[in-house]
Amino acid sequence: MVDSKRTTVAIFGLGYVGLPLARSASNHHVVIGFDPNETLVDSLNHGTSHIDDISDDELKEMKIQGFWATADPNELRHASIFVICVPTPLSSGGGPDLSAVESAGRVISSVMQPGALVILESTTYPGTTDTVLRQILESSGLQAGTDFHLAFSPERIDPGNPRFSLTNTAKVVGGFTAVCTELAGHFYSSFVSEVVPASGLREAEMSKLLENTYRHVNIALMNEMLRFSNDLEINLWDVINAASSKPFGFQAFYPGPGVGGHCIPIDPNYLSHFVRAQTGYAFRLVELAQEINAQMPAYVVSRVQDMFNADGISLSGASVLLLGVSYKADIADTRESPAYAVARSLAAKGAILAYHDPFVDRFVVDGSPVERIEDLEVAIGEFDCVVLLQVHSAFDPDLLAGKANRFLDTRGNVSDHRYHL
Ligand SMILES: NC(=O)c1ccc[n+]([C@@H]2O[C@H](COP(=O)([O-])OP(=O)(O)OC[C@H]3O[C@@H](n4cnc5c(N)ncnc54)[C@H](O)[C@@H]3O)[C@@H](O)[C@H]2O)c1
Repeated sequence: MVDSKRTTVAIFGLGYVGLPLARSASNHHVVIGFDPNETLVDSLNHGTSHIDDISDDELKEMKIQGFWATADPNELRHASIFVICVPTPLSSGGGPDLSAVESAGRVISSVMQPGALVILESTTYPGTTDTVLRQILESSGLQAGTDFHLAFSPERIDPGNPRFSLTNTAKVVGGFTAVCTELAGHFYSSFVSEVVPASGLREAEMSKLLENTYRHVNIALMNEMLRFSNDLEINLWDVINAASSKPFGFQAFYPGPGVGGHCIPIDPNYLSHFVRAQTGYAFRLVELAQEINAQMPAYVVSRVQDMFNADGISLSGASVLLLGVSYKADIADTRESPAYAVARSLAAKGAILAYHDPFVDRFVVDGSPVERIEDLEVAIGEFDCVVLLQVHSAFDPDLLAGKANRFLDTRGNVSDHRYHL
């Protein structure tokens, strides 16, 4: 039987999701982090964090509380709760690549004891937990719902968000049985302020996809509106600002250079892939949103080109500085960042590129490192054009726009609308 008081918890995958979970759980449980990346395991055990939201000091505090990282499954034999936070990238077929989930499942099935609780947090299509994962776990000879407990709880971490963290964001939990839901909820409520039970595994799995699909589609709506608003000479950011004054029935989303990160560009694909595979018909809104959002980097480049054309200058041979290349403000994560597509397309048109990002030490596009500019204040006036892709809080967009020869603000932050995308 799972006891929420200082249970031994094994967390699989020590990345953006797993390490913050390990930190919060360490206050109440003995936490072992399992990751096959031995270099990462070593550096975590030596007190060095690779995640923006976890400082080295916090990691040291976790170690004092009993946390350690390992790549050896034998060290997990005393764990009674297993939480899987491994990557689920897109496979070549458009669905999630579940190989890491499967591999974590095999390790767990080799070490878990009767009474264990297994929770999947990785984003995936509905049905993964009670088909793919359950089958692997049951190869141990133990049955889900009777010999061990099984649940899905979507991760809602928002890296770099100073207000909402794991502990003060409600956690959705759906179990294979009602008892599974209850036990998983009991575990999370030891360190999360609110647990929201879903009626089952698939509802919990799909709730995550709904959240990200909702964002994806609404961002696409703004991106599509941006293009015709520009042709109609209407400033869309101002429109959104005006509409946002409505205290009900409207939530603001913003246009931009495209969507990035592991969630928004990828998760809706899991859902459209699943809908198509299961029903034979398309989830058209998601597919359209995908198409619109994917066109935004090209739109940014066309706007840069327009600026050069207006001055009778060729983009080919011109110097362009990309400002902020991470997918989100104030973090170092560049996964799926639209900055890559913008850079690729500008370089293909002959632009000479450099970038400045206080969070990103190296920005490599198709194998070629882009020159990094250290001192923005000094260098900004030397570029033919500056493209603001990400507004880190260290940036003062108005000041930067004033110093640049040409400036394109893809985030609508500069007060003078003429600089907007
Ligand atoms: N990053 C986010 O903001 C975010 C938010 C919500 C949900 N998610 C989801 O959470 C999951 C994890 O994402 P992430 O951003 O933490 O990924 P990540 O790439 O930062 O970290 C994943 C870690 O898992 C490890 N790993 C790979 N195979 C493993 C295995 N078989 N066993 C144990 N560890 C293994 C990797 O070495 C890596 O350290 C994904 O499904 C993602 O979609 C991520």
